[in-house]
Amino acid sequence: MTTASKRRIYILDTTLRDGEQAPGFSMNLPEKIEVAKRLEKLGVDIIEAGFPASSPGDLEAVKTIAGIVTNSTVAALCRCLEKDIDAAWEALANAAANPRIHVFLATSPVHMEHKLKMTQEQVLDQAAASVRYAKHFCADVEFSAEDAFRSDPDFVCNVFGAVIEAGALTVNFPDTVGYAMPAEFGERIRYVKEHTPGMEKACLSVHCHNDLGLAVANSIAAIANGADQVECTVNGIGERAGNASLEELVMSLRVRNDYFTADTGIDSTRLYPASRLVAKVTGVKVQPNKAIVGANAFVHQAGIHQHGVLINRETYEIMTPESIGLPREMLEAPNRIVLGKHSGRHAFEDRLSELGLTVDPEILEKVFVEFKNLANKKKIVGDRDLEALVMYNTVSVPETWVLDHWAVNTGSALGASGVIRLQHKDGRFEKLVSMGDGPIDAIFKAINQIIGREPELELYEIGAITGGSSSQGETMVRIGMNGKHWNGRGISTDIIESSINAYLSAVNVMEWDLR
Ligand code: KIV
Ligand code: ZN
Repeated sequence: MTTASKRRIYILDTTLRDGEQAPGFSMNLPEKIEVAKRLEKLGVDIIEAGFPASSPGDLEAVKTIAGIVTNSTVAALCRCLEKDIDAAWEALANAAANPRIHVFLATSPVHMEHKLKMTQEQVLDQAAASVRYAKHFCADVEFSAEDAFRSDPDFVCNVFGAVIEAGALTVNFPDTVGYAMPAEFGERIRYVKEHTPGMEKACLSVHCHNDLGLAVANSIAAIANGADQVECTVNGIGERAGNASLEELVMSLRVRNDYFTADTGIDSTRLYPASRLVAKVTGVKVQPNKAIVGANAFVHQAGIHQHGVLINRETYEIMTPESIGLPREMLEAPNRIVLGKHSGRHAFEDRLSELGLTVDPEILEKVFVEFKNLANKKKIVGDRDLEALVMYNTVSVPETWVLDHWAVNTGSALGASGVIRLQHKDGRFEKLVSMGDGPIDAIFKAINQIIGREPELELYEIGAITGGSSSQGETMVRIGMNGKHWNGRGISTDIIESSINAYLSAVNVMEWDLR
């Protein structure tokens, strides 16, 4: 069966909502915009961009993304409350294309009794009334029965029937706490499909969490039993152990197209760049043995395996790295020279597009200038360098503080001291010297004194972009204050400067957020 003749499975990506709400995965507005653009290019059908009633920042993010995205539907989540639905619509009203209001209400006994303090009748009435209210604003309304898997199946069918009658075009069956087993989940989906009144008028969706590591398996069992839409996230990020991983779902259907009679509309060659972007903006690395996008996913270590793939790749490879957008040469030699200081703009742009890195024309010029500077300093510019350059230039916020210069003095016999001069956006320069437990501590303390704030350094990680002693250092920091958290990233051929860049970028995100 060709891809075209297969049953179409719709992908609702919730990286920017369920993914972002997990601790340590927060993203700022420019980062969310970049992720949304990447999801649109990937071919995601519905981008769940946030939960507008949860914070003014979420409302602004959904509004901005809805105003930009044209090829995917943009969804906003809300509780079954008029004020939440109003906030969702405020964010979606000026959508460039198709907006979706996604309302949810729990249907399981434990949620209804202890959290909602509502009876089944009240839940059913509120669900239907909320869908009716949302339909005043928006034709496309989705209803989710939170904790559906631990709910009475016949009650869920009744609620689904009532909300379909009220106008819901999609009904979603979440395994909110990741409790289901695949065969059991598949059977439940078939039951709901067959016993929900009016089900033929709506799309049946599933939303699986990964608490027992079964989110993808459960989603696939649901597809095999009639689900039309799956909700998932890039790299499987999300509440607790995460959500079903988008790339695993997509590639399972694609690689086993001999087995499945269904497929998605995702361009699989954009999966790897999307995974890298999400890992970079959240500052959370993908585990090396993660299926599809982990660093080891295509690496053959054992001699017998290496021998096998040299004779015929199919001995140990069920898919090619190219099929997920990872050029084989990038995998085998990430720090080989791809471009040098004499490379022209064409070669530069061609390589970016081979790597699936699309850059807006206004940013391209800046990235090209920085590439030339780097090529002069470093001689070897590899694919990972290009990836970092694009990333650092596309997701930055307006800067309050810019680095002018710095110096540190350190050694085994002396304490460390650092001096730094920063320029404020209003033009003034500020310079400070500070002592510390090491050069990084000294310089970060000096920055804190200049900016007049003392955020907590919650995460500091430094690594080499390409490997080898000539590699650029890449630093990731997270700072926090009064329950809020901000990420920053920096790159430089000097590791102290890369740390300063990362710290300042987090400071700039903080200043922008607190403006
Ligand atoms: O896990 C869940 O039940 C959810 C719903 C709000 C869809 O995220
Ligand atoms: Zn969820």
